[in-house]
Amino acid sequence: MFLKFIRTCFALFLFTLCAAAAHAAGRLPNVVILATGGTIAGTGATSTTTVGYTAAKVGVDDLIKAVPELKQVAHVTGEQVFQIASENMSNEHWLTLAKRVNTLLARPDVDGVVITHGTDTIEETAYFLDLVVKSRKPVVVVGAMRPSTAISADGPINLYNAVLVAGSQEAVGKGVLVVMNDQINAARDVSKTNTTTTDTFKATELGLLGYVVGNQPHFYRASTRKHTVDTEFDVSNLTSLPQVDIAYTYANVGPTAVNALVAAGAKGLIHAGVGDGSLPIKVRPALSAAREKGVIIVRASRVGQGIVARNGEANDDQLDFVVADTLNPQKARILLMLALTKTNDTKEIQRMFYTY
Ligand code: SIN
Repeated sequence: MFLKFIRTCFALFLFTLCAAAAHAAGRLPNVVILATGGTIAGTGATSTTTVGYTAAKVGVDDLIKAVPELKQVAHVTGEQVFQIASENMSNEHWLTLAKRVNTLLARPDVDGVVITHGTDTIEETAYFLDLVVKSRKPVVVVGAMRPSTAISADGPINLYNAVLVAGSQEAVGKGVLVVMNDQINAARDVSKTNTTTTDTFKATELGLLGYVVGNQPHFYRASTRKHTVDTEFDVSNLTSLPQVDIAYTYANVGPTAVNALVAAGAKGLIHAGVGDGSLPIKVRPALSAAREKGVIIVRASRVGQGIVARNGEANDDQLDFVVADTLNPQKARILLMLALTKTNDTKEIQRMFYTY
């Protein structure tokens, strides 16, 4: 254990020393772009087509060619990992992507990774990677709200900024980042907040980490939650993840969704409750019955901001439920899937929700 600790410290020290020396010597960083599809690789019928276009059409080489300025800030290479619209992103895609990122970052000749991605689930992929990437080197996830063929497409500048950040010393150890619209956000806290506008990515109350201005990243804060090398999750031997689903709440909701998800084999359920994660009277017995069958229940909120307080709107100790803290339901699903690869103990899982 002690030897492992010393080895890790030494590796970290060496990495920091080499990266700092490279920057001091003026060497351009080596950044690998992993392309997965999305609107950043989308094409439309005309230059004014900004809705109704087709996502995931342009290959990684053409994405790179479209931004010759990348050559000024990094040695860039590209790999086409998938070519999909991000609503089709699956657990299996995430495992493949995370393993590729870990393999690349373990190489001494790779300084950072950029992932081009559809914006619809970018926050989920980014948070998954934040929990399972085993490196302090920068990982930046980037997308675009306008297809590559649009007037004022945002993809090229977003890609340029993402590569700049991924090759920077400032981004080392900050966890997985989402860089869009000149802003740098932490994977854990960022969400898509508008269906179509280019300023859609916000960490609202918890705040952005910084900006990219004047060809430079400017960081003002860092997430206090553990990530990357400091998590207990390891995907290297995983080929699938436990089934975790989300049951959404609304006025007049009944137990149908909860019962159906449990019958379909869910090992965990995120209850996207109203307000502070309240449990409607018609849903509570279904959730209790699910828990009695061994399904882990996490109380989250559909509100999008704020803490779901333990033993607030429900007696979680008595029900043996977990609360999501400030994670939105889609991110709570990711943490619960990973938690279930380690334990079924609700106290342990609650600890993880307060740690990551
Ligand atoms: C997608 O998420 O793949 C389509 C939408 C987008 O990238 O903005």
